[in-house]
Amino acid sequence: MKKIAIFASGNGSNFQAIAEAVEKGKLHASIELLICDHPGAYCIDRAEKLNIPVFSFSPKDFPLKEDYEQQILQELQAKEVEMIILAGYMRLIGSVLLRAYPNHIINIHPSLLPAFPGKNAVLQAIEAGVEVTGVTVHYVDEGMDTGPIIAQRAVSIHKGESVEEIHRKIQQVEHNLYPRIIEQLSNEQEEKV
Ligand code: GRF
Repeated sequence: MKKIAIFASGNGSNFQAIAEAVEKGKLHASIELLICDHPGAYCIDRAEKLNIPVFSFSPKDFPLKEDYEQQILQELQAKEVEMIILAGYMRLIGSVLLRAYPNHIINIHPSLLPAFPGKNAVLQAIEAGVEVTGVTVHYVDEGMDTGPIIAQRAVSIHKGESVEEIHRKIQQVEHNLYPRIIEQLSNEQEEKV
């Protein structure tokens, strides 16, 4: 069974959806750890209720990204984590983790990449006047939402819909798609071994 770690910064609804897929036996993985860069974030409360260990830290307590990533890496290695799942983690991954987990870090982003990378992707889509946006799952590289795309789903935008309304539709798609992609990737990786 694949050992995974989830990285989140805030609400953690994707983290919860992945944990529920594991509980229901739809995703054959073991969530070893939640990594969170905001010690007060709600995703930590969720992890505690789910009995999932948490490593939280404040980046400002470390002089460099390398320093806190080194600490994260120790935590991941202690739990023999094989795959990193970013789910609302609002930071770029640096060289320490990219080198330790080549092709084993994935992210979910609320747009059809390469359109609207970075923050406020839904607002960017509204402001651009598009009628379709969506969700992208992709491998993580050193750029901002730039790695190779694994899966995408479209979500329509209707006239007058707010950021919150569109984001709610996007999240429904995310909660369904992300566990399925993680399951698929972990099966593919098992086959290669
Ligand atoms: C998601 O919409 C995801 O696409 C983006 O950040 C959001 C996180 O939401 N990267 P949550 O914390 O999982 O509720």
